[in-house]
Amino acid sequence: MRIDIITVLPELLKSPFEASILKRAIEKGLVEVNFHNLRDYADNSYNQVDDYQFGGGAGMVLMIEPIDKCISALTKERSYDEIIYMTPDGETLDQKMANGISLSKNIIILCGHYKGVDHRVRETFITREISVGDYVLSGGELAAAILCDATIRLIPGVLNNETSALTDTFQDNLLAPPVYTRPAEYKGMKVPEVLLSGNFPKIEKWREDQAVERTEKLRPDLLK
Ligand code: ADE
Repeated sequence: MRIDIITVLPELLKSPFEASILKRAIEKGLVEVNFHNLRDYADNSYNQVDDYQFGGGAGMVLMIEPIDKCISALTKERSYDEIIYMTPDGETLDQKMANGISLSKNIIILCGHYKGVDHRVRETFITREISVGDYVLSGGELAAAILCDATIRLIPGVLNNETSALTDTFQDNLLAPPVYTRPAEYKGMKVPEVLLSGNFPKIEKWREDQAVERTEKLRPDLLK
């Protein structure tokens, strides 16, 4: 999978890809992530990529021209499954969406900033608009990092057996069961007996029951 991220703040985005699972996925060649600084596509001496909005009002808007130039340079080289715009008014990201996107070969992610992007960008170039939740971030960069993390870990080979995504919360519309590690007793707090029993069918059954129970209690909406 290849991900091209267009941003005015590449430095804000880089660190999540420099540690742990995402770093290893990149090192293993399972995903390639490229950062494109929108300012490199500005055609004026100030590297200006934003401007005041027509009609007046507070806040700057990212201009269409540098975005067009950047997207055109990328799409000239290869075709893309999706050109995604991160925005609070997009479809809310969930596990199903991450599963679907993880099957893509090439995607572009455009990060909004300030008041957003010139609406013609959204009408003309963008194939999908994604939100990471009903709250407003200062820009699309952290949202893009969330989308990339949720997606990259689902690419076959990124997680090993121990960290397999198959047992994740949400993967089957259930919350994950509780997990414990040593010691078996800490200040009188005991790990559930069944987990120490070595009876694996029984442990499996307990985990399934816990997943259903926790989902009914904490997120009944997932069971509808
Ligand atoms: N940009 C600003 N807020 C956002 C959000 N909640 N989701 C995606 N992109 C955003």
